[in-house]
Amino acid sequence: FSAVEIIRTKRDRGVLSDDQIDWVIDAYTRGVVADEQMSALAMAIFLNGATDPEIARWTQAMIASGERLDLSGVGMPTVDKHSTGGVGDKITLPLAPLVAAHGVAVPQLSGRGLGHTGGTLDKLETIPGFRTALSNEEFIDQMRRVGAVVCAASESLAPADRRLYALRDVTGTVESIPLIASSIMSKKIAEGTDALVLDVKVGSGAFMKELAPARELAETMVRLGAAHGVRTVALLTDMSTPLGRTAGNALEVRESVEVLAGGGPADVVELTVALAREMLALAGVDADPAKALSDGRAMDAWRAMVEAQGGDPDAELPVAAETDDVLAEADGVVTRMDAYAVGVAAWRLGAGRARKEDAVSAGAGVEILRTVGETVRAGEPILRLHADAGETARFGAARQVLEGAVDVGGDTPGRTMLIDR
Ligand code: URA
Repeated sequence: FSAVEIIRTKRDRGVLSDDQIDWVIDAYTRGVVADEQMSALAMAIFLNGATDPEIARWTQAMIASGERLDLSGVGMPTVDKHSTGGVGDKITLPLAPLVAAHGVAVPQLSGRGLGHTGGTLDKLETIPGFRTALSNEEFIDQMRRVGAVVCAASESLAPADRRLYALRDVTGTVESIPLIASSIMSKKIAEGTDALVLDVKVGSGAFMKELAPARELAETMVRLGAAHGVRTVALLTDMSTPLGRTAGNALEVRESVEVLAGGGPADVVELTVALAREMLALAGVDADPAKALSDGRAMDAWRAMVEAQGGDPDAELPVAAETDDVLAEADGVVTRMDAYAVGVAAWRLGAGRARKEDAVSAGAGVEILRTVGETVRAGEPILRLHADAGETARFGAARQVLEGAVDVGGDTPGRTMLIDR
């Protein structure tokens, strides 16, 4: 096979054969196909799409580029959750222990933040002592003992995707349904989970800004899961407004702990419970997950998970030294708060990274004092920006992107979290 021939085929809207796909993924993983050739192929797929059989084979080839974990030794049903990414999306933190509290193991392999979306590992690492790098043996052992485990994927899981995702990130080829679906599902299938719930985000803070492509992405991933024996369901949920009242690493851990203590923002609780219900149903468990949030069982599972990974659940979380309030200009009800702008603001304050080798600030981020549907008076703070000592120059950059991001008006639109199933 020749990489150039394969690029030309996709460029000219042709269909790749199974053998061509297997070859190009394997050759790219081995460094035989160069980054510039894979970039061109990714752009051709971005522009011209891929057929269902092509997406299925591409996913299969990425799984085959590494190892596939065997979780049969866990001795419990395993169910994972994956979110396509959003602003203030800390749901994994309360959700994994909540589900584990029902005797279901959650093999949550997570990522780091990039651009305007945060990463679960960055959040958990703000807990003093917390380790996110576990061996496969530690990963499986913790599921057996504690149920919930949230850690980084090992290098040997879908290595083709690891290389390709980094390449897509710098070549403007992330927002493609075939590429996103195969990227996410190759990792989830290789992880070995029995079942999977997908939280597909729709709105300004998500990859998919509109409902129709989000639905197509969800359906594509559900088909890929089914084809590989992973029972998969998808929820389409709102990401036009940030989730909860915080975007930023330690800020989001604090909010998650509030949810685990039976409180926390209504939207975070609603989504956590809705996803837990789907996960428990896939595992064959008939229970109301909201109960375990109010009676302390989810909190117990959280503490056990944090301790198992070397963290101290009672430790103080880092706090940023500097704050700056963004004030309301008029009286009224908050009718819109743009998730993308809040995500970029948190990133500019230091919570996120522009390149994957950058460090992130634990304490930086945005606190939302008034969200959609709430009343505010002129001059009252709507947002509180947090930055580290000596980093007050970041406030200006954050304020700039928040310009026009919040509307205060006359009536309450309300908010629908769960758009579709
Ligand atoms: N998350 C992934 O893992 N891959 C994508 O392509 C997009 C989001």
